[in-house]
Amino acid sequence: MVYEDDGIDHRQHVYRLIMAAWGSQAIRALADCSIAEHLKTEALTAQQIAERERVDASMLYRLLRVGVSMGLLNHDTDSGTFLSTAMLQMLHEDAPDSLKHYAKAAIGPAFWLPAVRTPQAIATGRNQAVEALGTSVFDYFGQHPEEARVFTAAMTDLSTPVIREAVSAIDVENASYAIDVGGADGTFVSELLERHPELTGAVLDLPHVIPSVVDNAKRRGISHRMAGIGGDFLESVPSADIYLLKFVLHDWDDRTCITLLGNIRRAMNPSARLFIVEMVHGYDVAALDTALMDMAMLFSNTGKERDVSEFESLLSEAGLCPVTVRPLRGSYHVIEATADQGD
Ligand SMILES: C[S@@+](CC[C@H](N)C(=O)[O-])C[C@H]1O[C@@H](n2cnc3c(N)ncnc32)[C@H](O)[C@@H]1O
Repeated sequence: MVYEDDGIDHRQHVYRLIMAAWGSQAIRALADCSIAEHLKTEALTAQQIAERERVDASMLYRLLRVGVSMGLLNHDTDSGTFLSTAMLQMLHEDAPDSLKHYAKAAIGPAFWLPAVRTPQAIATGRNQAVEALGTSVFDYFGQHPEEARVFTAAMTDLSTPVIREAVSAIDVENASYAIDVGGADGTFVSELLERHPELTGAVLDLPHVIPSVVDNAKRRGISHRMAGIGGDFLESVPSADIYLLKFVLHDWDDRTCITLLGNIRRAMNPSARLFIVEMVHGYDVAALDTALMDMAMLFSNTGKERDVSEFESLLSEAGLCPVTVRPLRGSYHVIEATADQGD
């Protein structure tokens, strides 16, 4: 096959895409050393940061140099100091849209080790969590509390902007109790409760996640209105008027999703509503984000990113009926469903 010369250096382009994996690890290390926090208000040398972080100064210097080449830092060669750019501040823990914990978790061992086995996942048709981690990703987190804590915080990083939009799309009329199913630290339900002081709610998640729920409720001053329930959503789900289900279905294969949705269907109070927030395939906007998230599911979990018709058939199999599908930012959508009354 003969390719026309289109003026693009394809080799260099593909090389950069390959090397992006090392760039991702550099970002993870910058987040791990809290470089955004150290450089928020002052310029510092690698030596000064290394002393504060108790890390090796010459290795840190090399990491900071990578940060400069990626546009996250500037370097003043006269003083030898490094300065933050606006991009680096996305890794500051207190930034409103912080990605600090996401940078640490998304390419940490729980996902990086299965990712290395992507060819085997393609060959066998199975995710590679057990081969790479010895167990499923969520059981692995159960055995690694610090990584689990960072993963829960990463979910909050990733979810907060889209959750704020989703909360605006939820009508709470006639509702008094909301459950965030697989809600991690409960960012979704706590944002809903803060917006609607008449509501109470809870997060149902695995037992090791519940301390993060308690911390989140305390931090927001809503401990009297929000509880953490340690349990397994594949066993049962408490009764409620509003169910929130964000970024959970994409973790699971169809059969497991139907079990979970069926548990919700059985527990629903009369006129209860379910709000599913997921990335939805089939929309051009942010298609790369959805495709890459689907990659993560491919090597680490049994799930996948789905299109609207796939969500509709899961709902209908579980005796639920989609009412509306509303777009949020990027390819995120909120799908509202009720119990199928013909059921
Ligand atoms: C991808 S995270 C999504 C978290 C949160 N909903 C969000 O969007 O930020 C999936 C969540 O499901 C929880 N989870 C996994 N298996 C579970 C189970 N069997 N029962 C209850 N929660 C579970 C995990 O601990 C995790 O918090």
